[in-house]
Amino acid sequence: MTAPLPHLAPPPARIDRSFLQDVIAGLRAPQKSLSAKYFYDRRGSELFEAITRLPEYYPTRTELAILDRYGPEIGAGLPPGAALVEFGSGSTTKVRRLLPHLADLGAYVPVDVSAEFLRSEAEELGRDFPRLRIEPVAADFTKPFDLPDDLKDAPKAGFFPGSTLGNFEPEMAAGLLASFARTLGAGATLIVGIDLVKDKAVLDAAYDDAAGVTAAFNLNLLTRINRELGADFDLDGFAHQAFFEENLGRIEMHLVSRRSQLVTVAGIPFHFASGETIHTENSYKYTVPGFRALARTAGWEHARVWTDPDGLFSVHALTASTIRRH
Ligand code: SAH
Ligand code: AVI
Repeated sequence: MTAPLPHLAPPPARIDRSFLQDVIAGLRAPQKSLSAKYFYDRRGSELFEAITRLPEYYPTRTELAILDRYGPEIGAGLPPGAALVEFGSGSTTKVRRLLPHLADLGAYVPVDVSAEFLRSEAEELGRDFPRLRIEPVAADFTKPFDLPDDLKDAPKAGFFPGSTLGNFEPEMAAGLLASFARTLGAGATLIVGIDLVKDKAVLDAAYDDAAGVTAAFNLNLLTRINRELGADFDLDGFAHQAFFEENLGRIEMHLVSRRSQLVTVAGIPFHFASGETIHTENSYKYTVPGFRALARTAGWEHARVWTDPDGLFSVHALTASTIRRH
């Protein structure tokens, strides 16, 4: 007779195998970690939107101000009739600021892993811009994915705002930029938003806000794992932690175990010592020359940069000079 599984939570009807494998591998590592892309279920996408409105979270309002101020210049750099592919489109707030400056746009292709949120945001955008061709693609942009067939021959431009690139280790970020060059094709333009290095106190506050919204965003990852993978994380047993690690130039987010505890995921037990952490996100901050150098290693020539008067955030225009296999 086989021993019963030490399973406390009821198993969900359908499990996403790659999500389960990633979570098991992450929790088995000496420094436990979970991939930040799993933050974005519907609730996670909504919590991120709430983060963008926090007084401490300066990146969104600063990037929007840059797009508003320099939109005509940014738009003028895109080829007529282009299909604009946005990587990690979320609420599409930012492209709405660019659309008035993109009169000739052939199509808008929002790409996001948060499939349900993507669909509802694309529908809403379609209601507000009825003449715009919108072709949403629910995909993980770190893996190969196809653009809609009917856009194969259109010139492509990319849009990657929000400093989402900063959520990847620099080597992975370069690999991602190189893969975007392959997706968009030689000669394509990519508009990328990149958060800049600044005072530690400003950065720490942006990722540990007084209202606790970022904490809720971080903890929602455990709620998602409980629901989708049949785990039994006690949310009161973990605390949000975020800090700027100056030597590495990145914000680190963790979930800290408040006590020694055992958690099961799909019947597999994981022990947490008191104070042990799950590393849930990095958010790298760049200097303008540092980002330019990174882009160049990925085959992108730096064309333009726009920043705000306080030098908090940057928006770059890059051109795909060569297509590199990474
Ligand atoms: N571009 C928006 C949203 C940024 S939040 C802005 O600037 O405000 C990051 C977005 O990227 C989320 O919508 C998330 O679902 C998406 N995302 C994160 N990792 C992803 C991945 N690997 N593939 C596709 N989308 C991803
Ligand atoms: C999506 N990404 C760029 C955000 C960031 O600032 O790194 C995610 C985030 N995490 C906590 N707050 C916001």
